[in-house]
Amino acid sequence: MSPFTLSRTLPADATAAALRADVARGLALPADPGPAGTAGVPALKQLPPKWFYDARGSELFERITELPEYYPTRAEREILEHRAAEIAEVTGARTLVELGSGSSEKTRHLLRALPELAAYIPVDVSESALTQAGQALLAEHPGLTVHALVADFQSGLTLPSTPGPRLVAFLGGTIGNLLPDERAGFLSSVARMLSPGDALLLGTDLVKDEATLVAAYDDAQGVTAQFNKNVLAVINRELGADFDPADFDHVALWDRDREWIEMRLRARTELTVKIPMLDLLVHFTAGEELRTEVSAKFRWERVRGELAAAGLDLRHWWTDEAGRFALSLAVRD
Ligand code: AVJ
Repeated sequence: MSPFTLSRTLPADATAAALRADVARGLALPADPGPAGTAGVPALKQLPPKWFYDARGSELFERITELPEYYPTRAEREILEHRAAEIAEVTGARTLVELGSGSSEKTRHLLRALPELAAYIPVDVSESALTQAGQALLAEHPGLTVHALVADFQSGLTLPSTPGPRLVAFLGGTIGNLLPDERAGFLSSVARMLSPGDALLLGTDLVKDEATLVAAYDDAQGVTAQFNKNVLAVINRELGADFDPADFDHVALWDRDREWIEMRLRARTELTVKIPMLDLLVHFTAGEELRTEVSAKFRWERVRGELAAAGLDLRHWWTDEAGRFALSLAVRD
């Protein structure tokens, strides 16, 4: 059998249909608030952050990870470097599943520490990233079988049957990009993928002072601003819209009650955008904001509680020296 296989669980047109649905739903907001006094605060226009990541968005994200202000990638790498051997020892993993694997750069430390590993299953929506990363890893680990899955980690996955125990890794703090109810659904679906003895390795950025957090999402070079505005270019290309990114300002704010960072795009003037493929006109008032990302920051209590609610038992909690980021290891109980 070939050491590299790739399977698609996403129909070829599923991504396009999901984008259309998300844009139609999120940009139609705020809904008509109705007679004064009957409605609460109207919901902001919003888009899910997964639409940032076309080729240009992925490249901008790579640049973000190298910015002086954006600490999470370096902090997580520090933990992986220090703890890879311990992770290998306590899990005894023979199959590593990586959700949202991207370039698989973070995984290299784990793979090196897991000599018993038989199979690596990278899961990503980008087929090109999977093919590139898969081939590169095979060159470094000739004994390994790689089963790449083109899939959205939010929809339930059927994994190929490979030797256990399995270690499912969800790194980078990407769980923070899900809203609380989405996180609950996601963690339950991960729990269903695990057999007794399997484990989840979860990366979470941690609550810290506001200035550090905001700077990480509003860097001096403006790379994050370009990344944020890239979602408008994606909608222009995919749905024929006429957004002018220059009409919007990048906003990063810390919501201290919900303990999350939000990225928004704020209309500089009143404007109307045409989205021909949805037969939609989207109106923005001057200063109106579109929420493009939530990036939740965690404390130990919340991580433990959300894992427990999904039937997962937190067994190890590792942070970087500066306590900025955590890796959690949980097992199905
Ligand atoms: C690494 C995908 C979780 O929320 O920090 C970086 C994405 N957004 N800068 C994060 C991101 C703005 C990022 N994730």
